[in-house]
Amino acid sequence: MIILKNERDLEAMRPACAVASLVLSEVAAFIQPGVTTRQVDEFAASRIKHYGARSAFLGYRKYPCQICISVNDQVVHGLANERQLRFGDIVSLDVGVYYGGYVGDNARTVAVGGCGVEAQRLMDVTERALYEGIAAATPGNRVTDISRAIQTYVEGNGFSVVREFVGHGVGRSVHEDPQVPNFVDPKSNQKLRPGMTIAIEPMVNSGRAHVKILNDGWTVVTQDGSLSAHFEHTVLITEGEPEILTWPERVPSSLKAS
Ligand code: MF3
Ligand code: CO
Repeated sequence: MIILKNERDLEAMRPACAVASLVLSEVAAFIQPGVTTRQVDEFAASRIKHYGARSAFLGYRKYPCQICISVNDQVVHGLANERQLRFGDIVSLDVGVYYGGYVGDNARTVAVGGCGVEAQRLMDVTERALYEGIAAATPGNRVTDISRAIQTYVEGNGFSVVREFVGHGVGRSVHEDPQVPNFVDPKSNQKLRPGMTIAIEPMVNSGRAHVKILNDGWTVVTQDGSLSAHFEHTVLITEGEPEILTWPERVPSSLKAS
């Protein structure tokens, strides 16, 4: 069942998405060679708390960290530990928060200091694929139109989309209907309607699409060891253009000042 949001819901959901966006930007700026992923997670915890929010991931199906930190061949759901980030790594940061009863969910991949040209191209293509998907998120279109836009763009650039993990509706819960795959799945062909709020989140591998889960039960890695990138926004379907609720420039100055 797809839960449509009315203006009152959105009045509460916009700030939740603003906090998620703000925390993601702050965490991205904290990334530098030498810091451990544990320190990154602790920094995220302090920023989430600072805004009076709560991690939407910690405790979800027993997920043990505040945010997801996935390095290089790690696709999503990477766990914080004593690993030190090194110059040239790429790190995917996924931040979801509860604030005022609603969830904001967003992700981005950043280079640690700098990275190789192929890693940079992977990040650029993945980010651009997200915006191709968002551009298709208009009423009258279907979920498959978002999926097709992403898949076509990614594969046209010689990379592959992960199948096992998908975007999703988001609202009072992190995961609501519908699923939003990054590949055309005829089962996910719901019509898009104003008031739907969805997390669009391409996960893109530089090599083959196949992934596996490590023994920790969470960390998803590429089977072939190739690099992976992940970009995500929470998006509102409107009568017209989609509204990117986690767009950094939407953050109200009342939240920013501190
Ligand atoms: N953004 C990811 C998702 O929507 C993060 C989930 S992490 C989990 O699935 F811990 F909550 F599973
Ligand atoms: Co998500």
